[in-house]
Amino acid sequence: MDSVNILAFESSCDETSVSIIKDGKEEIATVVLTQIDIHKLFGGVVPEVASRHHIENITIVIEECLNKAHMTMNDIDAIAVTYGPGLIGSLLIGVQAAKTLSYLFHKPLIPVHHIAGHIYANNLVEEMKFPLIALVVSGGHTELVYMKDNYSFEKIGGTLDDAVGEAYDKVARVIGLPYPGGPAVDKLAHVGKDTYSLPVPLDDDTYHFSFSGLKSAVINLSHNETQRGNEIRKEDLACSFQNRVVEILSKKTMKALKEYHVDRLIVAGGVAANQGLRENLQKLCHENNIHLIIPPMKYCTDNAAMIGAAAYFAYKKGRIATLDLNAKATEELK
Ligand code: KG4
Ligand code: ZN
Repeated sequence: MDSVNILAFESSCDETSVSIIKDGKEEIATVVLTQIDIHKLFGGVVPEVASRHHIENITIVIEECLNKAHMTMNDIDAIAVTYGPGLIGSLLIGVQAAKTLSYLFHKPLIPVHHIAGHIYANNLVEEMKFPLIALVVSGGHTELVYMKDNYSFEKIGGTLDDAVGEAYDKVARVIGLPYPGGPAVDKLAHVGKDTYSLPVPLDDDTYHFSFSGLKSAVINLSHNETQRGNEIRKEDLACSFQNRVVEILSKKTMKALKEYHVDRLIVAGGVAANQGLRENLQKLCHENNIHLIIPPMKYCTDNAAMIGAAAYFAYKKGRIATLDLNAKATEELK
């Protein structure tokens, strides 16, 4: 196959992003317009507000990306888009924009699962080799995925309730930190001590996770202390919460690597930006001779570059959509 330039779209939550990626690995240009400051006012993403902003921004972001790349649509070989899972109104804007350009310029349309995108962000760092285990940790997902080969996904475990990022965001709210809570809790955890007694969530033999119990424990502890007139040591609570999260994520990930006889690990999703998780996995992988890839921060949170990277491998596997492609709020990774 000659080299392939993919124009990719990501609009599943509160980032409007367009990127041009060459051959699944080379980032030519990316534009990410985040709505964080708008949703901060509400303490979380308001779906209707998010889709309205995607509509307002999408054409501007497309134009800016092409300008940044010094390219026109003639230089583009295929169009890719996140079709799910995510907020339906937000997804629809990206899907509609991608379908319109695909139709107008006669370019193949490649549908990309949002989590496949997060996983392939790693291919922008270095060529992914297989088999591998992917730990996907974001605001909507906490999954362990076994990949025997390129673009083959076997989910071996996932959260039974809250996603890990969701738990971070709720804990942050309880201790009075702004949205999105993950980075703020992470920062605070680094200056705190692990002094609060919190339960290790779902510490069993499965590859599943559960974060709602831990989240509730933090909420209850905070309420009880407030009622007693005691001050919460926010940094210590953040540190105790983060340590329990990192422990269980690391433990089950290392178990998967061992039991699947795999010596490659990639970490994906917004929570992959977590300093505590990064440091612990780096240490464990070093001790166990596991090759670890964690994307730099800009590829951890939602962006279209990761969608363009995944799309190249989907395209090579013949995964092309017709113009009746629809957005899906929920969708299994396959
Ligand atoms: O992947 P992402 O941008 O969006 C989803 O697909 O969900 O992930 C966003 C999530 C939010 O819950 C945010 O709080 C969390 O990732 N996050 C973090 C950190 N940075 C972002 N969680 C923990 N530590 C961080 N440093
Ligand atoms: Zn995401």
